[in-house]
Amino acid sequence: MTEIFYGGDYNPEQWPETVWHEDVKLMQEAGVNLVSVAIFAWSKLEPEEGRYDFGWLDRLLDLLHRHGVGVCLATATAAPPPWLARTYPQSLPVTAQGVRLGVGSRQQYSPSSPDYKRLAAKLVREIATRYKDHPALKLWHVNNEYGCHVSESFDDNSAQAFRVWLRERYGTVEALNEAWGTSFWSQAYGAWDEVTPPAAAPTFLNPTQQLDWRRFCSDALLSLYRMEREILRNITPGIPATTNFIGVHKPLDEWRWAQELDVVSNDAYPDPGAYDAGIYAAFQSDMMRSLKAGAPWILMEQAPNQVQWRARNSLKPPGVMRLWSLQAVARGARGVMFFQWRQSKAGAEKFHSAMVPHAGAEGRTWREVRDLGQELRQLGEVLKSRVQAEAAIVFDWETWWALELDARPSADVRYLEQVYSYYAALWHRNVTVDFVKPDADLSPYKLVLVPNLYLVKDEAAANLERYTEAGGTLALSFFSGIVDENDQVRLGGYPAPFRKLLGLSVEEFDALPVGVTHTVRGEQEFSADLWADVIALEGAEPLATFTEGFYARRPAVTQHSFGKGKSFYLGTRLDGAGMAWLLEKACQTAGVDTTTNLPEGVEAVRRVSDGAGYLTLLNHTDKSVQVELSEAATDLAQGETQVGELTLPPYGVTFLRLQQPAAGTAPTPVKGAKLD
Ligand code: GLA
Repeated sequence: MTEIFYGGDYNPEQWPETVWHEDVKLMQEAGVNLVSVAIFAWSKLEPEEGRYDFGWLDRLLDLLHRHGVGVCLATATAAPPPWLARTYPQSLPVTAQGVRLGVGSRQQYSPSSPDYKRLAAKLVREIATRYKDHPALKLWHVNNEYGCHVSESFDDNSAQAFRVWLRERYGTVEALNEAWGTSFWSQAYGAWDEVTPPAAAPTFLNPTQQLDWRRFCSDALLSLYRMEREILRNITPGIPATTNFIGVHKPLDEWRWAQELDVVSNDAYPDPGAYDAGIYAAFQSDMMRSLKAGAPWILMEQAPNQVQWRARNSLKPPGVMRLWSLQAVARGARGVMFFQWRQSKAGAEKFHSAMVPHAGAEGRTWREVRDLGQELRQLGEVLKSRVQAEAAIVFDWETWWALELDARPSADVRYLEQVYSYYAALWHRNVTVDFVKPDADLSPYKLVLVPNLYLVKDEAAANLERYTEAGGTLALSFFSGIVDENDQVRLGGYPAPFRKLLGLSVEEFDALPVGVTHTVRGEQEFSADLWADVIALEGAEPLATFTEGFYARRPAVTQHSFGKGKSFYLGTRLDGAGMAWLLEKACQTAGVDTTTNLPEGVEAVRRVSDGAGYLTLLNHTDKSVQVELSEAATDLAQGETQVGELTLPPYGVTFLRLQQPAAGTAPTPVKGAKLD
């Protein structure tokens, strides 16, 4: 495995065949070795029910193969053709308000529609049987971005499937009543057919019903993936299958999904107009790598330049597309792909950039695409190494779902924002993290961060406690350990499962109005907002206290020794400087190496293999910077040895092979740095 996949979505059905011949020549020029084909081609492949037309796809795959381009072949099930809706209107999805969605865009199917499933399965079987021996076939691209537009449907088939799912989970209606706490508001069910999805209702719906619905919806989509994957596995056991995630996406429990994928792939569209887009891109990449315990993943889609679907679509300045592409490689990607190869002439995506723009093979976007393809050929050696992380962040979809249900103390506590605030603080210290499930083996990590783990299962709570007791360092934040998997409160004082571990209890929690900040005082003063825990110490020591209101002088941040380990607790939301202070402290306690002597905006990612260490330096600023290396290193793209001071141009990236093998520990190869 030393070849990095390079290419993108290829939609030749939008073009006359004469254009295909120009396409393959340009693909060769750009070093393209993989394209995703037929993602939205159902209506072309099956123009009417049961009548298939594969002639064009036969010719296309042969042409690609003759030009050395591999195929990530789609199962074409993401956009059903209009005839399917006309013949089977019940297959269309229905919103919570009871509106049936129609044709004319894409993804218009209910995940629980038997008609959709039957016809999709038939199509997949046809495609797999036809191309099973085609030499261009490298990878299966199942459906596309499950849950992108329609992650839930309230049609009758979905209601029926929800009841079946609940029956499997609970066995009896009595058990469901118990789990859902239906003694409240006269909600007790007497029979399964009384139970419905949480569609429009007069006021707050039962929270556990909503939580189970989210679980069910993720599983319903997953069962579609499994259905297709089983067909593919039977017909082409040797060809791996994937489906493209939409980054860290709320509707799909990606931990569960990743177990079913042969390789994880992701679509990443950071907003070039956002100041922290590069950090958010890193966040997504680290999640993709973590989903399959460090296994290489594929950046399946990104924009070569601007998108068309935001209200304002910023360009990627020169160098940024390369920067974010190489960042993905540094953080574990084994493929850099785009949406899409040739910019559409018609349709809703005609103003979305593509590898070959409307002008053809000219202009900045094309040149950057072509140059990157050539450069990636020099970097394949990196694939033999693995990203190294000493710290982990606990991430859990069920907590995400439960934390953001209605009727909580504050509607402003957003899970992703909280997790990201930890991630960003570590990114600025060049601490690479893995993401882990709450019940994962935490022993490989010196430091484990647990933002807002509102919902926690018994095993997970015990896992976190064991980790700390055995000598780990753990930092946990407010509104954690509050409910069990049924969203029922864990009694005995908040946060019941973590009181011992933290050496404290939380007597009350205050939700701060928007715009209200509190000053928190410790070694320094920080600003805090959003939330304030009223904490009673039970052995922990305060690191910082509130200074205002009736809980002035009571702790806001604490630390505690537990067994052989240490725990930190954050009872509010700190500003950036406060997070930097807390995480620096946690890293120091844990012995996690932080690299803060790089210029602001320069990212360092380390990788190790048996015989070598690698360092990628990425300049996210529009200024040239100098970095001084503490040891000689070889620039992989240029093949040159670098010693001493190294200049990174604006948005520049360099992949370095370190002279001294890293021998399993994170090297600190950067001595110092200064801005140009
Ligand atoms: C998603 C889809 C693509 C395309 C892009 C545009 O990622 O998978 O088909 O619509 O968005 O950004």
